Parts: sequence; structure tokens; C-alpha cells
Amino acid sequence: MRKINFFDTTLRDGEQSAGVNLNSQEKMEIAKQLERLGVDIMEAGFPASSKLDFLSVQNIAREVRNCSVTGLARSMKSDIDAAWEALKEGEEPRLHVFIATSPIHRLHKLKKTPEQVIQTAVDSVKYAADFFPIIQWSAEDACRTEWTFLAEIIEKVINAGARVINLPDTVGYNHPKEYGEMFSYMRENVPNIDKVILSAHCHDDLGMAVANSLSAIEHGAGQIEGTINGIGERAGNAALEEAAVALNIRSEYYKASSSLNLNEIKRTSDLVSRLTGMVIPGNKAIVGKNAFAHESGIHQDGVLKEKTTYEIISPELVGVSSNSLVLGKHSGRHAFRNKLEALGYLLTEDEFHRSFQSFKDLSEKKKEFTDEDLTAIVMEEKLSNGEAAYELRSLQVQFGTDNITTATVSMTDREKKVLHEAATGAGSVEAIYNTLERCIGTEIHLKDYRIQSNRSGRDAFAQVYVKIDFNGVESSGRGLAQDVLEASAKAYVNAVNRVLLFDQQQEPKASVSI
Ligand code: KIV
Ligand code: ZN
Repeated sequence: MRKINFFDTTLRDGEQSAGVNLNSQEKMEIAKQLERLGVDIMEAGFPASSKLDFLSVQNIAREVRNCSVTGLARSMKSDIDAAWEALKEGEEPRLHVFIATSPIHRLHKLKKTPEQVIQTAVDSVKYAADFFPIIQWSAEDACRTEWTFLAEIIEKVINAGARVINLPDTVGYNHPKEYGEMFSYMRENVPNIDKVILSAHCHDDLGMAVANSLSAIEHGAGQIEGTINGIGERAGNAALEEAAVALNIRSEYYKASSSLNLNEIKRTSDLVSRLTGMVIPGNKAIVGKNAFAHESGIHQDGVLKEKTTYEIISPELVGVSSNSLVLGKHSGRHAFRNKLEALGYLLTEDEFHRSFQSFKDLSEKKKEFTDEDLTAIVMEEKLSNGEAAYELRSLQVQFGTDNITTATVSMTDREKKVLHEAATGAGSVEAIYNTLERCIGTEIHLKDYRIQSNRSGRDAFAQVYVKIDFNGVESSGRGLAQDVLEASAKAYVNAVNRVLLFDQQQEPKASVSI
């Protein structure tokens, strides 16, 4: 079995997804979960892109000790300096430096000759080698680069000190056979190739990112890169959880393995989905809600007789528990703590206290709490940090098919002053948001609104995700409640609070071109 390194770029390439905007606390939460998942390398961001990204990479490098933390840099001294400053306190500082190599990029983006591209790449790797123990070099748009040119530049950057060579399919253009053959060609034609690990980085524009990554493994890649749930620019990146489970289930074919803790996959996937607001399609492989559901009579019959008739992956393998009923109204602190421990949550005392309080409040209206309910509560509390500028006190909505919908809200502001307002709207959510806008006294634009239930069943929690524009700052918010309208109000208030509480942190997304 060859061990394949898993390089996660959820916090860099994944965060480049349209509409995703994570704050530093959320990035840290994802980083810690990626550490538990057991990724070998974590790309925490692009330090030169903004002050915020720099600080977030620095905090993650300081905190995460069980995997190598890396950051992206263009082939320029200032980017490499920023990356070193951000990463130097990490357990194993690693630079990810890149330059575009394809004729399209050389001509139109870089406006450099092939010789100038080689010189820039070599100079940047040599410069970085004075600081970094490990340098990964990437040929952006490798798949649309002449293989002879690619082989030449790779040989030179290896001589300059690169230890990992990454060949990205930046635009998701290749099919698996072609992509694999590129790896074989480089292995056969670059004289010093045995000094490095080859890495695959695939985008999903034609829906082949995971297949291409697996093909690269078959052709000698020792590392693959991707994101959780496959999030990323345009159609996204290779979904790491899919590649890891494929290696596990088809180990006899690939003769390769990862060191991921597969039973952390579901938790990681849920966290990333919740924080990015990118909903996982029900039919998504491995983590979709239907991935293990057997609907047709023939399949159900088969599975009841023998699971393996229609089930190649057991849900438990990836951390999907089949255990449902757990706690109820009368469960105390002790049972609550035991259950959270069994679910694998590590909470601070403060987080535990807030989660328990929220469980108690919710149990006034709800009889039974499943694992999914408890997970939703804990995630909500972990991420709220217990801080709020505005707090919703009460909400009342009057709706009738023949009446004008009216909402009445009572909330407190930063100074704990109580605010009361009422407003109408064409529907209940609009009436609530018009009322909250009045309370807050600033024009707020709703840019996105999504509602989901946390599981099936009538008594499931409503989870609402919103994106707003508040004072010119884009912010997202989440709300969890038994009632959809309450969850909608909470999500809106949460989005406003995130602007106010992380005020000093708000910055537009990195505008540097890469
Ligand atoms: O897709 C790509 O080419 C990248 C590089 C910056 C590595 O993400
Ligand atoms: Zn990419």
C-alpha cells in the first residue's frame, strides 16, 4: 500500500467559492476539525492577499500541531515574505508557491516569455528555500501547458529546492486518461523527478475532479489536493472525502491508502456546509443525505436480506450514526455531557454551558432530541461565541391568507436598551425583516435566504442561512429554531451581529489576482 498525502485547501481554494466568506473564528473551527480528520497538509489561506487572511493563517499555524500548515504565494518576494511571517511558528512550515505555465496564461495574464516564466519560478523557489524547510511548487494551468515545457521548468524548480511538484488542472479541462498520462510523462522525462512528491490538484468543471485525482494516483502521484464537499471556484475542487473513501473501498485496486480518520468525514462535511452556507445536494456521494438511503422496494428487500447487495459503504465508516433517539426534556447535565462526549464533541466549559442552556430552552417545546438535533445545537453555540450586539427577545407574526402580514419584534441593542417595532410585509419573512430593519435603524439588503431542516420529521429544527449587505459590508448569518420564522429572524440578527462584532475584521475578499 502506498500512502497518499491528503492536502486540504478548503480554507484557500474552497474559500474562493462565490458567496463564501468565513471569519477567522470560523476558519479556526474548520482548521481544528481538519486536524481531527487527519489531513496531512492544510492550506490555511493566502497570507499576502489581505491582512485578515494573514492573521488567520498565522493563528492556524500556531494552533494546529498535527499536520503541516501551508499558505499560498505568488512567485514574488513580498508574497513569500508574508507567507513566512504567517507560517514560521507552525509545526512544519511549508510554502505553496505557484506560477502559471500555459501559453494562454503566459501570453495574456503574465505577459512573459517561456524563459522569463522559468526564471521567475526558479528565483522564487531559491528565495523561499532560505526560509522554508519544505516548498511545494505549482504549475498553474499545467494541463494546458506543453508537456516539454512543463518537464523543463519542473526539472529547474527541483534543482532550485522544490520538494513537492503540483500539476493543477486549474480549469477542470482534462479527462482521467490524459491527466494520468501527464504524470507518467513527467516521471519518465524529468531526470530529477525521484527527488519530489508529485501532487494532483483538480477542478470539477467537467465533473471529473475526483476521477482525475484518482487517475493521478494510479500514475504515480503521492499527494492529492481538494476540499471538503468539493467546494471551490466555479464548479469546485475534487471532494477529498470522496477520494479518501474510494481509496478505502477499492484498496485492492488502487493499492494506496490515506491516513484520514474516515469516521470524522460526516462531522467535517456538516461543519463546512454549515459555515459556508453551501448546502450539500441530497445525492452527493458519501455525505449527501440520500447517500445511504434505499428507496425502491427491490433495493430495500435486497438490503434487508444482505446489506452488501446494494451497499458498498457502511454509513458508520464515514461517521453517519444510525442511532436516533437520545435525550429528552428530563435529561440532565450529566446525560447531556455523556452524549456529547460519545458524539465526539470537545467543548469548553462555556460552550458546554451555553449548549446545555439552549437544549433546556428548546426542550420546552420539543420532546425528543436525536444526535442530529444535538449536533445542530452544539454547532450553533460553538460558533455564536456567546457574544451578541443585538438580541432577539420576542417575535410575533400575524398571517392570514386574506390579511396583511404584520410582525412585531422586541429586541435589545448593545447597551441592553429594549427596542419594540412592528411592520408589515407581503409575507411573514418580509414582515419580520422589515421590522428588524426598523429596530436596527439601518438599511439592510437581503442577498440570499435559504431554509433547511436539520433532519427529517415534523419536529425537526429549522436552519436558516442568510446573506445581507449591511452598511456596505456583506455578511452571512445562521439561525436555528423549532419554528421557521424564529430561525429566519435569528439568522438575520446573527448576520448583523457578525458585522458589528467582527467590525474591525471586515474586509472585502482578497482582490489580488492569482
Ligand atoms: O487551481 C489552481 O491552479 C490553483 C493554484 C493556485 C495551485 O489553485
Ligand atoms: Zn485550484
